[in-house]
Amino acid sequence: AVQPVIMAGGSGTRLWPLSRALYPKQFLVLQGNRSLFQQAASRLAGLATEGLSVAAPCVVGNEEHRFLVLDQLRELDLPPATVLLEPMGRNTAPAMTLAALHATAAGQDPVLVVTPADQTVVDEAAFTNALRQAVREAAKGTFVILGITPDRAETGYGYIRADGSKVAQFVEKPDAPTAERYLAAGGYFWNSGMFVVRASVWLKALERFRPDIASATRAAWAAHKVDASFVRPGKAEFAAIPSESVDYAVMEKCPGSGEFDIGMVPLSAGWSDLGAWDAVWQVGDKDADGNVAIGDAMLRDSHSTLVHATSRLVSVVGLDNVVVVETPDAVLVADRSRSQDVKHIVNRLQTDG
Ligand code: GDD
Ligand code: MG
Repeated sequence: AVQPVIMAGGSGTRLWPLSRALYPKQFLVLQGNRSLFQQAASRLAGLATEGLSVAAPCVVGNEEHRFLVLDQLRELDLPPATVLLEPMGRNTAPAMTLAALHATAAGQDPVLVVTPADQTVVDEAAFTNALRQAVREAAKGTFVILGITPDRAETGYGYIRADGSKVAQFVEKPDAPTAERYLAAGGYFWNSGMFVVRASVWLKALERFRPDIASATRAAWAAHKVDASFVRPGKAEFAAIPSESVDYAVMEKCPGSGEFDIGMVPLSAGWSDLGAWDAVWQVGDKDADGNVAIGDAMLRDSHSTLVHATSRLVSVVGLDNVVVVETPDAVLVADRSRSQDVKHIVNRLQTDG
């Protein structure tokens, strides 16, 4: 069987002020009528087909968001999920490892389909087909990632250098000149952030490249407690796990080692990571001037601008390529091309208390 895993414990700081510590972006409805997290859960449920059974999802999230997770799952017509709750964020490598330890606890070794909770996909059929192919390869022991054809030198993604269907090299979040070079060279793909791999293969890879994270996460899992739908690793043990993403901990090191078979399945399904406001504008419904208005917004003589109003009428006159996000206690006005830099404001707010 396939075990879907949704990593939903991030904080989404680049979508401030809408995305907040207690209500991060994956739980917001930014497009359509479902949150990004709900879209991820429904997409994965759609994987099931004749001869491919898909288990109820395993959600790895943060303790503070447990009711958001439960409430949002309840709105979907899905079998009851397992919810693994982290007492604090330690990035995605420990999150994926908790899911792998949970999935293998009863002696099974399912193919994990691990996905982020902050993405949108336009063509669900193409998505499903690519993931089914990835599952077939992962069942044979390959560590499969899904590659997106890049259309700009985005620095917020991982880059895959492909050699046929194999991954020759993986570079997480390169700097701008490096990303430009990859784009010009061709043969590079963006990492979609989805990992399709047998639980045992993931555990072996982590053991090989980051034994410290592997043993610390095993210790936290050994102290876990189950409370109705929630599963909680030991708090003190979890706090001691080094914080690292799957990409840095394993993906960058795997291809060069020659010890693991890393494959890439191309994904051409209108995929976007709604990482920053510019991406929300990209996927939004645009008027004739390329503006996206969400909530009570009025635009005049403006172009390619996003206005997101939550509690008041927001009007914009004569502005191009701007992002305006209004909430009751904070307003963001930014050049759309500088969307990634919103995280610096959030960092400052956090340090200033
Ligand atoms: N449970 C849990 N715990 N989930 C987490 C944590 C954590 O500590 N940190 C992040 N997540 C979740 C986020 O909520 C998101 O759904 C997913 O894991 C990925 O984390 P991001 O922080 O959004 O990663 P990223 O976008 O910077 O980079 C990753 O995704 C890109 C594509 O969207 C990488 O895999 C890149 O290589 C990739 O290109
Ligand atoms: Mg992301």
